[in-house]
Amino acid sequence: MRVFVVYCHPSKKSFTYEMMQEFLKGLNDANHEFIVSDLYEMNFNAEISENEYEREAYYRSDIPVAEDVMEEQRKIQESDAIVFIYPVFWTEAPAKLVGWFDRIWTSGFAYNPNPQIKILKKALFILSAGKTMESLKETGESDAMRIVMLGDRIRNRALKKEMIIFDGTTHWDEAQRKERLAGYLKNAYKSGLNF
Ligand SMILES: Cc1cc2nc3c(=O)[nH]c(=O)nc-3n(C[C@H](O)[C@H](O)[C@H](O)COP(=O)(O)O)c2cc1C
Repeated sequence: MRVFVVYCHPSKKSFTYEMMQEFLKGLNDANHEFIVSDLYEMNFNAEISENEYEREAYYRSDIPVAEDVMEEQRKIQESDAIVFIYPVFWTEAPAKLVGWFDRIWTSGFAYNPNPQIKILKKALFILSAGKTMESLKETGESDAMRIVMLGDRIRNRALKKEMIIFDGTTHWDEAQRKERLAGYLKNAYKSGLNF
């Protein structure tokens, strides 16, 4: 498969960065092709402009889609699957990735009228969450993230949808964290290998 990976983390020293590398290794070993949009690295402009807002909220229909937006849309159209990799920020993705959806999911591409987006074979979200799964479940936050990402943003734009949450990744207990993350890196590799 040809896989489009949208990666969003401000630091390359992060667990999320290492985890992406392992995932890509897995994809590579399984002979999948991939391309990566590293939103910080490419200095992606995540702020929707007034013109873009007016287009997306149907005030005006005469505003063209920006070139950097079309480029990301092209990457989707040329792929079979999409993967989002990011750390959880306030039960959401980092603002840059939220803004990516604001700008890339345009009308005529991702929603009415006449959406042209290709129905992808698979959409996978791989998240690093500081909180434990126990806490994310108790508060309903893990369900909320699934509803927003798989339900709202992907909806019927992919045939299969999945969210993997690597939980408890904060620095509270370094020894425990190290052991946990080593296991997660193996799982990230396997997710790529079995994609
Ligand atoms: C601004 C900010 C907001 C955060 N919000 C959450 C949150 O809502 N839920 C959560 O589980 N972790 C939250 N965290 C913790 C991060 O998810 C955690 O630091 C990250 O996943 C650790 O992985 P990394 O080493 O790759 O950054 C937040 C961190 C930051 C910096």
